[in-house]
Amino acid sequence: MVPTGFTLGVATAAFQIEGALDEDGRGPAGWDVFAAKPGTIVDGHSPAVACDHYHRMPQDVALMKELGVDSYRFSLAWPRIQPDGRGAVNRAGLDFYDRLLDELLANEISPMVTLYHWDTPLALDEDGGWLNRDTAYRLGEFAAIAAAAYGDRVARWVTINEPATVTTNGYALGLHSPGKADFANGLPTVHHQLLGHGLALQALRAAKVPGEIGMTNVYSPVVPNSGNPLDWISAGAMDVAQNRLYADPVLTGKYPDLIRAAKLFSSFEHPDEDMAVISQPLDFYGLNYYMPTRVAAGGGDSPVPAAMAEAMGDDLRDATPGAPLHIEPWPDTETTAYGWPVKPEYMAVALKEMAERYPKLPPVIITEGGASFVDVKVRDKSANRTFIPDERRLRYLSDHLGTALRATAPGGEAEAIDLRGYYVWSFMDNFEWSGGYKQPFGLVHVDFETQVRTPKASFYWFQELQEERKLAA
Ligand code: NOJ
Repeated sequence: MVPTGFTLGVATAAFQIEGALDEDGRGPAGWDVFAAKPGTIVDGHSPAVACDHYHRMPQDVALMKELGVDSYRFSLAWPRIQPDGRGAVNRAGLDFYDRLLDELLANEISPMVTLYHWDTPLALDEDGGWLNRDTAYRLGEFAAIAAAAYGDRVARWVTINEPATVTTNGYALGLHSPGKADFANGLPTVHHQLLGHGLALQALRAAKVPGEIGMTNVYSPVVPNSGNPLDWISAGAMDVAQNRLYADPVLTGKYPDLIRAAKLFSSFEHPDEDMAVISQPLDFYGLNYYMPTRVAAGGGDSPVPAAMAEAMGDDLRDATPGAPLHIEPWPDTETTAYGWPVKPEYMAVALKEMAERYPKLPPVIITEGGASFVDVKVRDKSANRTFIPDERRLRYLSDHLGTALRATAPGGEAEAIDLRGYYVWSFMDNFEWSGGYKQPFGLVHVDFETQVRTPKASFYWFQELQEERKLAA
């Protein structure tokens, strides 16, 4: 059973769906420039139109209504609202989200708003982006603008989304905007994003918004590839670098010991007072779970398994030769189009580890989970309709949601966690960052030539789940 009050939702992010990058006074984002550079996005795909959601918003909300979701998680495009990332506000940009919020509420869909989902205004990136402490203050200012404009209508706020991905892909490996590739960027970009989270939280609290406030981290349980002690040490280091580095400061007010002792990657220093800002109490903790990570010592041929590198392009394959550790494929495991292992049982491990590590964990919302699989359209001539039998995505979602519900039910291994919801990534196929349009995650198929939306089998599964509030065995 899906517990009463448990939120079933779908998620998107502005840059991945909106298009209309030059319209109505939107300023440029760092991502606009990064994506236009040759070799950054698979097959040179462009985010310029994406799902054209900016022009099709009412129809998209109508489709969400048909899906029957309790809640919709979307992000505000910072450069649409504040074109230079500081100072003047663009009325037309604010208006778009005003209309979206009103449309959602008219359809009884509860809005969850992410303030920062990676589309940093270009002007801020030109001043160093997250390497520059000032960007954290700019995010605080942006949060105050959003609170004043939308505070009366937003049920849940997420300050920032997956700072780990921004640091790793954007600043250490150069795979995402701003395309910087230096491990020394690690600590400053982590710290400034977390400070930005804290300042945004402060601004929302100061504005007395009635909605709940949280932040979102991705969490991937790490396991060593073998009993070899070097693999164990590598797995521990990876766990710190991808999980604890982001969760510990927010939930305990301290960076992990390994980071503090080793000054890993850089000699970055920050004022002690920042930690109190970063660790202010949250109303909920957002967790994105997609997969576990299997780690071995040594550089290997590539830092990631071949299938994943294949899907992400050549740059990643050659990113860190000679690295001290690397990710191994899981034996005998189904993988998604990205090459990500499908391991629903690790959803429970993620929740259990969170519960064990963070005794003061607030209620948890799984703010994203989902899978990219290449879909096939089947023409049902007799019924004159197109059918998309995405059984694997449907199974992925059903298994992960089921595991999360069982793990947090009384007697489950993560029963200490008060789990409040699950948001499917994603409502519709969209621009998957450096994966372009080649990694479809949607419950709704989007034909990027015609912009025709076609609900997949997983859409109808989710619709039934909303109605029945229980998962089929
Ligand atoms: C996490 C990110 O928040 C989202 O933008 C992305 O599309 C999904 N993961 C899938 O990679």
